[in-house]
Amino acid sequence: MRITLSVIKADVGGYVGHSESHPDLLARAAECLVKPKSDGLLVDYHVTKCGDDLQLIMTHQQGEDNEVIHELAWDIFIECTEVAKKLGLYGAGQDLLADAFSGNVRGMGPGVAEMEFEERPSEPVIIFMADKTSSGAWNLPLYKIFADPFNTVGLVIADNMHDGFSFEVHDIKESKKIMLNAPEEIYDLLVLIGAASRYMVKSVRNRRTNEIAAASSTQHLAYIASRYVGKDDPVCIVRSQGEFPAVGEVLEPFAFPLLVEGWMRGSHYGPMMPVSIPDSTPTRFDGPPRVVAAGFQLSDGKLIGPRDMFADKSYDNARQRASDIADYMRQHGPFEPHRLPLDEMEYTTMPQVMEKIGGRFIDIPKDS
Ligand code: 13P
Ligand code: 13P
Ligand code: MG
Ligand code: MG
Repeated sequence: MRITLSVIKADVGGYVGHSESHPDLLARAAECLVKPKSDGLLVDYHVTKCGDDLQLIMTHQQGEDNEVIHELAWDIFIECTEVAKKLGLYGAGQDLLADAFSGNVRGMGPGVAEMEFEERPSEPVIIFMADKTSSGAWNLPLYKIFADPFNTVGLVIADNMHDGFSFEVHDIKESKKIMLNAPEEIYDLLVLIGAASRYMVKSVRNRRTNEIAAASSTQHLAYIASRYVGKDDPVCIVRSQGEFPAVGEVLEPFAFPLLVEGWMRGSHYGPMMPVSIPDSTPTRFDGPPRVVAAGFQLSDGKLIGPRDMFADKSYDNARQRASDIADYMRQHGPFEPHRLPLDEMEYTTMPQVMEKIGGRFIDIPKDS
């Protein structure tokens, strides 16, 4: 059975501030999905949240970038914005940047990760969702999952993964993309994706079968909107087992709380803390950034699950480490490298400050 898995998300209002999603929003979204499922448009759905981001997880047979599916998600976000406005939630409709739907939610504010594939007899998928960070946050974990044998021993000892994986990398500043092969081109790949604020892994495929292995949302809101609209708070779908890394290999990179951009006002680096879905409540200095993992088995497109993968005790050390790193980073206050470099910040007062004091700058004499 060919199935499309679509994860479409938006922040349409936070509770309280940017720290959490109000249950009424999730309930309204779930209500809106009952009829599309009974009408047969959707095979199945699951509504969840990561921090203040509302997540619609849907299976269907309409393919990727389908106008009807995207419009359904858009309409639900509009509907939930109304609920957010009634409750006075913070930043109601924050991520809805367009006035009306026009064919595809890409570029309109919401984040989208989608993949179409032939469902295997057993199809384990992990859906990662993050809050207070940007799409580049997936680069390091995706590299480790699909290209690093010290993370994924299957690359070494499993024949069906031994030819490696190909990475589709997007340059979100120039709107260009390139395919790079692991393992032969990993040094070239790392030159690009190590600069995670500009180059982002969009998808990954098994090179022997060309089967889709991972797909991320690479919406970079800073480049879509000219004003501050929050970080992307990205999502990423990863297929597992068989010709793909095992579930444990897919989850393993997140035991390392990597530094990502997007904390407080979208303008700070902080550690990405792996947490259970209920614990995705970024509260300390609006953070630290969180990542959750919802695991499903697909069965004829039905979403069996989710299992809340990071609820596991084996992630306790990563959480403690993330808290310790958060303490350390916070002590830098408004200084880099806690604060982002000037051209990466979502907020800045630089123009106003220069307006006020710029005239007081004088040239430094050459001989001084
Ligand atoms: P099982 O033998 O339990 O199926 O596990 C195989 C595997 O790949 C675990 O990483
Ligand atoms: P969100 O992008 O999750 O709304 O967070 C905005 C922010 O910068 C909070 O400090
Ligand atoms: Mg918000
Ligand atoms: Mg958010």
